[in-house]
Amino acid sequence: MKDILAELERRRASARLGGGQRRIDGQHAKGKLTARERVELLLDDGSFEEFDLFVTHRCTDFGMEDEKPAGDGVVTGWGTINGRLVYVFSQDFTVFGGSLSETHALKICKIMDMAVQNGAPVIGLNDSGGARIQEGVASLAGYAEVFQRNIEASGVVPQISVIMGPCAGGAVYSPAMTDFIFMVKDSSYMFVTGPDVVKTVTNEVVTAEELGGAITHTRKSSVADGAFDNDVDTLNEVRRLVDFLPLNNRQKAPVRPFFDEPGRVEPSLDTLVPDNSHTPYDMKELILAVADEGDMFEIQAEHAKNIITCFIRIEGQTTGVVANQPLVLAGCLDIDSSRKAARFVRFCDAFEIPLLTLVDVPGFLPGTGQEFGGVIKHGAKLLYAFGEATVPKVTVITRKAYGGAYDVMSSKHLRADMNYAWPTAQIAVMGAKGATEILYRSELGDAEKIAARTKSYEDRFANPFVAAERGFVDEVIMPHSTRRRVARAFASLRTKRRQLPWKKHGNIPL
Ligand code: HXC
Repeated sequence: MKDILAELERRRASARLGGGQRRIDGQHAKGKLTARERVELLLDDGSFEEFDLFVTHRCTDFGMEDEKPAGDGVVTGWGTINGRLVYVFSQDFTVFGGSLSETHALKICKIMDMAVQNGAPVIGLNDSGGARIQEGVASLAGYAEVFQRNIEASGVVPQISVIMGPCAGGAVYSPAMTDFIFMVKDSSYMFVTGPDVVKTVTNEVVTAEELGGAITHTRKSSVADGAFDNDVDTLNEVRRLVDFLPLNNRQKAPVRPFFDEPGRVEPSLDTLVPDNSHTPYDMKELILAVADEGDMFEIQAEHAKNIITCFIRIEGQTTGVVANQPLVLAGCLDIDSSRKAARFVRFCDAFEIPLLTLVDVPGFLPGTGQEFGGVIKHGAKLLYAFGEATVPKVTVITRKAYGGAYDVMSSKHLRADMNYAWPTAQIAVMGAKGATEILYRSELGDAEKIAARTKSYEDRFANPFVAAERGFVDEVIMPHSTRRRVARAFASLRTKRRQLPWKKHGNIPL
């Protein structure tokens, strides 16, 4: 009996070495942790339970039958993050470059199936040379099985991808279909075709980092939602994110203990909006003032900074925030910000996370670039997402809410539940100057007359009361009491139930 136990230990120890010490050292030399070290850091101490440690590939071509490392290049199983169940796979670059074989895919599929069945998030740590070249179509089939599961799990359990090394070719499409992608700076990249193919086809010379590194994907392409300095920081941020999320679409997000008075008054907010309506201010000050303990987790912080998307907690409850940022492009909506916010709103709605919308929007960004790029369709994404969302929706207009952008930003008409405005709000078809120039075109030569016209338009519309008279704004509130009002509004909406008419699915303007 003792011999059998010792044999098991020996087999386990050998399997845990993956591709061997030399390759582990190589991984460390690149500043990367191994697949197992990453899992240990991601999960609570000692919580990891592994599946399929002894699975091997079935390939018999190219001498592969003589090389059958246990585990086949991916570590899979489940564990906990702050006591809550998650399923995880972590690709082992030391085994055939973490490449995906038929059996490697089956291991991933197994934990995905269990995650959906048991209602817990899937976290994938990606570090792979792509399809196992020796296996050909069996590997491609494996990818497609993972893709199909990504699709079926979408909106059922949160899916998080962490890119911690190469992720190239069709392999990128599994992370692309998950809810959040985090990347490690300088050691990860994602692209459909690499620098060599790009050079051959388009003659462009580009490095892997420029083409698909963390900076590229968090700033330009918006493929990734966050980039962090190293493996340790990145995994810590995943833990932080998971803390905000429900385990599945039938459960609420966890309620965390909070030590911040919900009725906390914030006098500084009374002077947040500058007297001059063209002077910007930082909307993050308001978000931090509303959030429990000033804690926020931003999604896509480096992309389309004219809109902020983040998770906060109010009275311990996770809340998704969408907020125009007057510091960037005056807070205008454009293609990128509409896409960014729409995706965030849909995530929140899919997982029953209430939405707080903070509005200071002078309209949609004008220009041929925007029109040619399809701002009509992209802007409609956000409109559609807000209108479709049935979670509790609370909106606060701090300053401008002009034109179509007023409608889009979770207005009353899109079935927001509570719409508040600060006394500094201006809710109108457009700014007073623009309005006067259209209405009184014939008087444009007379500066005095135009100034008087502008003033009278401002007096009539540059306030929240016209909207409040119609009930489009439920209440004009004091800025300093925003946290209290918002917290009470959400508290009153905890039992909200609203259903859209039956349909197979809508047709969001993709
Ligand atoms: C089998 C692979 C492999 C692969 C790497 N290895 N990629 N084995 N299939 N796809 C092996 C190497 O042979 C090597 O084995 C070890 O992994 C480490 O690789 P290195 O090249 O030494 O590492 P590095 O220099 O860091 O380069 C990493 C790399 C490179 C950039 C990922 O290995 C590479 O270009 N690999 C091929 C990538 C590729 O073309 N994949 C197919 C893409 S198409 P030893 O024994 O020496 O340690 C695709 C389609 C998916 O993925 C479609 C889905 C629908």
